[in-house]
Amino acid sequence: MNDIFDLREKRILIAGGGGDIGFACARAYGTCGATVLLFDIHEDRVRQGVERLRAEGFPADGWCGSITDPVFLEEMAGKIGGKYGSLDVLMNCAGVTSRKPMLEMSQKEWTEVIDVNLNGVFLLLKTFGNAFCGQGHGKVIQILSTGAYRFGPNFSSYGASKAGASALIKSLALEWAPYHVQVNGIAPTATETNFTRDYYLEHPEKKAAAIKNHPYQRLGTPEDYVGAAIFLASSASDFVNGEVIIVDSGKTV
Ligand SMILES: NC(=O)c1ccc[n+]([C@@H]2O[C@H](COP(=O)([O-])OP(=O)(O)OC[C@H]3O[C@@H](n4cnc5c(N)ncnc54)[C@H](O)[C@@H]3O)[C@@H](O)[C@H]2O)c1
Repeated sequence: MNDIFDLREKRILIAGGGGDIGFACARAYGTCGATVLLFDIHEDRVRQGVERLRAEGFPADGWCGSITDPVFLEEMAGKIGGKYGSLDVLMNCAGVTSRKPMLEMSQKEWTEVIDVNLNGVFLLLKTFGNAFCGQGHGKVIQILSTGAYRFGPNFSSYGASKAGASALIKSLALEWAPYHVQVNGIAPTATETNFTRDYYLEHPEKKAAAIKNHPYQRLGTPEDYVGAAIFLASSASDFVNGEVIIVDSGKTV
């Protein structure tokens, strides 16, 4: 029974793997036996992430660069291919947010969020999609957000980017089904990470309201998502495609 969650011999690349949710998933994948490769725009997060994984005895490697940079992505793909061979799983945790009324938002601010959270998904999947379809297997796991399905004021660019990414992966799930590539998502809820920490410190009332909004009366933690991440990376999910697992203690219901 345990074998269906076995990730030994699997090579997993995590975009935004230096972030809190990405790193929690990286550790979990390492625990399940995978070789964990990660990249992130923050060099220190990549270095620390790889060091921590290796210190725990997990094979790991990392690169610094942006999901919005097709040249970097191609070069990294070449290095990964040369050193590790083909990938089995591609997870994308890279993301940025903005909290601003749309009428106060510049076009540059709008584009910054759409570029990372939506255009970045396109570029990442363009870079690795051919190899996945060519080899006839592969699992894509896109980290979305409950904000892709439940909207609120001051989240126009974030909500649009995550809803767009949700539509993109569902479309690809069907396009790549003939090649036995599964494309799924995980939608985290409000979680205390680099993403939200400063905002919740500055606005404790927003944090209290967010906690109250959850049936379990707490925010998510990065570790709350690793179960879904292991499931979607493993053979346990081989017939699951175009699905988004919402992990929010039932808030979205
Ligand atoms: N924390 C939350 O409340 C929450 C809720 C729902 C969804 N999410 C999603 O979870 C994912 C992970 O976020 P997190 O909470 O771990 O925050 P985080 O800030 O710790 O992680 C995001 C990571 O993405 C990296 N990144 C940003 N822009 C990049 C780029 N251009 N190229 C490569 N890497 C880039 C950051 O450096 C960071 O390490 C994001 O996609 C976010 O939208 C977070």
